[in-house]
Amino acid sequence: MTLTGSRVRRSHVPSQGLPDVTPAYSQQEVFFCPEESHFYSHCLERLVFNRYRDSNSIIEFGSGDGSPVINALIRSQFNGTIQGYELNPSASQVARSRVSQCELDQKYVVHNRSFFDADVPNADCLIANPPYLPAPDNDICMPLLHGGDDGATITNKLLTLDCPNVMVLISSYSNPVETIEQGLDHGYAVADFMVTPLQFGYYSSEPKVRNCISKLRQNQQAFYSQNIYFLAGVLFTKQELGAIDISNELIKVMTAL
Ligand SMILES: C[S@@+](CC[C@H](N)C(=O)[O-])C[C@H]1O[C@@H](n2cnc3c(N)ncnc32)[C@H](O)[C@@H]1O
Repeated sequence: MTLTGSRVRRSHVPSQGLPDVTPAYSQQEVFFCPEESHFYSHCLERLVFNRYRDSNSIIEFGSGDGSPVINALIRSQFNGTIQGYELNPSASQVARSRVSQCELDQKYVVHNRSFFDADVPNADCLIANPPYLPAPDNDICMPLLHGGDDGATITNKLLTLDCPNVMVLISSYSNPVETIEQGLDHGYAVADFMVTPLQFGYYSSEPKVRNCISKLRQNQQAFYSQNIYFLAGVLFTKQELGAIDISNELIKVMTAL
């Protein structure tokens, strides 16, 4: 991605003939990476909404501008509701505006709260494209994208909450093997996954982040080539629900570069 922090209008959801009144924010104010958000949306459609069509309870960590869930809802026949939590007030404002424009208020509710502080209901499935930028501290271009020293801190925490199904994006440069092992240790099987190649973008190319990624690679905790890294949408399902575990296959893919 080559945009440089100028004011950009976000990736568009269909506005159903209504004028788009959503305010525009820079990519330092609201997460903006269309390639990644589109991939998350396709993972939601295939791994979650079409699979748990009649599930009534899905919770989301970090809704961003809301477009991934909105677009997946429009493309699928999902009958339940999603409670989204987004800490960034600007992002949650954009998300709510989009939800209303698409008349999805009954299906998708975005709360401007930290997921970890909110009174989050029990749910059948937790979904997230979590912050996964590795850096020694959160003094980076967008602090809310900081994923701890190895990029995997928040993802790993989401796998300790005991939700029966968790669909999270995992990056091949953010200590992916430990995250998959964390899932197994907490009683999950890897039930399914989708993978896409991505180029390093606006956020991951920040020198402080890029240096950290290089150090992780020296410790065999980051896997990428000169051109790309892999991003996986992974569906973790509690082992007692009987899914065949394909974690070994996922590890092979995520460490291939
Ligand atoms: C990688 S972005 C993903 C945004 C959106 N889901 C997408 O894929 O386009 C991660 C989002 O998590 C949000 N976030 C970070 N910490 C959070 C927290 N504790 N609670 C809720 N949201 C949080 C960030 O503000 C950011 O919008």
